[in-house]
Amino acid sequence: MSVPSELFDDDYLYFYAEAIGPSRSDAEAEVIAELLSLEPGMRVLDVPCGEGRISGRLARRGCRVVGIDTNDRWVALGRERYPEVSFDPGDMRSLSYVDEFDAAVNWFTSFGYFDPATNDRVLASFARALRPGGKLLLDVHNAWRLARVMAATGGTAGAVFEREGNLMADRITYDDATRRSRTERFIVRDGELRTVEFSLEQVPAPQLIGRLRRAGFATVRLFGDGGAEFDPEGRRLIVVAQRSDGTKSAVRPRMTLREVSDDNGRAVCELKLAPGQDTYVAPASYTLVEGGHDPQAWIRAIYADETPVGVLALHAEPEAEKYFLVRLMIGAQHQGQGFGSAAVGLVAEYVRGLPGARRLETSCVPGPDSPTGFYRRLGFEDTGVVWHGENVLALAL
Ligand SMILES: C[S@@+](CC[C@H](N)C(=O)[O-])C[C@H]1O[C@@H](n2cnc3c(N)ncnc32)[C@H](O)[C@@H]1O
Repeated sequence: MSVPSELFDDDYLYFYAEAIGPSRSDAEAEVIAELLSLEPGMRVLDVPCGEGRISGRLARRGCRVVGIDTNDRWVALGRERYPEVSFDPGDMRSLSYVDEFDAAVNWFTSFGYFDPATNDRVLASFARALRPGGKLLLDVHNAWRLARVMAATGGTAGAVFEREGNLMADRITYDDATRRSRTERFIVRDGELRTVEFSLEQVPAPQLIGRLRRAGFATVRLFGDGGAEFDPEGRRLIVVAQRSDGTKSAVRPRMTLREVSDDNGRAVCELKLAPGQDTYVAPASYTLVEGGHDPQAWIRAIYADETPVGVLALHAEPEAEKYFLVRLMIGAQHQGQGFGSAAVGLVAEYVRGLPGARRLETSCVPGPDSPTGFYRRLGFEDTGVVWHGENVLALAL
């Protein structure tokens, strides 16, 4: 699985002239600089950099930018247009930088070209390229919205771009099982027709968070169109993921979900909520007792490496295709490190493999410190249903 080189040629520059032109590029560079808190002198890696429009603008803000792209012609164009950038031809699958950059940028739907394992390797190589505490910014489709739109249109959608009587028409199909979109592009320019096809893995926010954490990122923040707050209905998902601030050899904790047994039951029960949170989340011990009475409960301790940091309970009714996250609790001393988001990513991934799983539901007690915002930022949306006084939210899988 790779990207056909003929996708990014003169026709691309011609039809995307406005989309990648000066005014949009200026605005995008502004958003990137803001979300990454870029300062003059910072080292920035832009992969893939295309013809250098973002690299060039970040360099003009005083950053020391390295731009990498497989397209030799565009690398040459970048060198011509933005001499202040260090452009090199290269493949994002074989980045070899280690602990070098303050920030890395993957902009304009340039992630997801390969099979999932290779895409994960790309994420890991970005993590390696960053210094501890460095940040990666990824700008992709909001896969959750895309899947919904495609479901509503029967799995196929289209888009047509016209310029000076020339046409570029995309027929897009989406396979929910593999979460891949496939685009057949028909280009009619100066009376000649040619076609090109490409496909992208479309990763929803919770799963992307889990994968970024496994790739070596400690915290992940989500944004939406133009760098605004992430909106599950919005078109874009911008992710800012940060490597831990630890030493060079510090490795991100590996997040796992494990059975609660005699060996870890006490440690799980000893996890305490932060003051005031008990209005919204039940204590860990309650979850274990409650789960003991529910034959359809799937209860797991949440581990960061070998440390139990929380507990979750899923109620699964495969016969009714119903999957409900009854509880998610992270111990007070482990909060604020992205463990809750990672656990939601892991449980969503688990549920997705179960029979008839289309959505994962949960419910939140309303109130000023309700976790509703946390779930919305992960792509859950309000269903309008109220259950035992709690608002039910659902995440499309
Ligand atoms: C949609 S463009 C985005 C370019 C740039 N980020 C921008 O915002 O204009 C995607 C780019 O990915 C490059 N590309 C495709 N496969 C690549 C690979 N394996 N390694 C590096 N670059 C690749 C293409 O040459 C193209 O320039």
